[in-house]
Amino acid sequence: MSQVKLIVSNWKMNFSFDQAENFVKKLKKIKFDTLKVNNIICPQFILMPLVSKLIKNTNINLGAQDCHYKLNGAFTGDTSVELLKNLNCNYIILGHSERRQNHFETDELINFKVKTVKSEKLKPIICIGENLKERESGKYKEILKKQLQRCIPSNLDEIIIAYEPIWSIGTGHIPSIKEIKEIQDLTINFLKMSKSINNIYFLYGGSVNADNLGNIMNSSDINGALIGGSSLKIEEMKKILTLC
Ligand code: PGA
Repeated sequence: MSQVKLIVSNWKMNFSFDQAENFVKKLKKIKFDTLKVNNIICPQFILMPLVSKLIKNTNINLGAQDCHYKLNGAFTGDTSVELLKNLNCNYIILGHSERRQNHFETDELINFKVKTVKSEKLKPIICIGENLKERESGKYKEILKKQLQRCIPSNLDEIIIAYEPIWSIGTGHIPSIKEIKEIQDLTINFLKMSKSINNIYFLYGGSVNADNLGNIMNSSDINGALIGGSSLKIEEMKKILTLC
């Protein structure tokens, strides 16, 4: 996986059934090098059966935007990893800042979810990130370390971390390459020191588009990107998938 860049589309709560179908049909026509790119799309839950069917036997992989930390039970409104697995979903985004903000998800809850996802042999993509106030206070490194310490279980074969500064999501403001590198180094060094994890993959997310992704990929050795707004635009995706 190390040579392959993960391009993770976070569709969030967008697209109707028709829009999703049309979009996937166009996405399937985009030619890209699968040795270089792992194209993962994460639709909202109710679109997943449709998307799963549409991408069967293609070079597109399926991801989810969340899951519950238990496999089943009395959890009204939640979604189980077991069912996601049945849809050939391989990746699950966990701890996105919108889940943390809107659904009051804590680092501890995210840790439970990571364990459940790993126990089912799926790949969690764990989001960390600081808000603007935390960045400006200069305390962001401590805050990110705390998130890593609490969200990530101790013994893992591999982990995918997505660094998504909250001040960058949907704003058009992206950190400099130096700032992204700083957090990549911090993440890898911290996890190597405090946990036992064989392989650590680091993604960047926040206002990624076809114009800035090339620069981020070329100037750093990050393992890919988590993309929101631009992942809903087919022309952007065409450029992004062929950039890597
Ligand atoms: P954005 O969102 O690309 O629209 O900034 C990224 C994300 O929230 O994952």
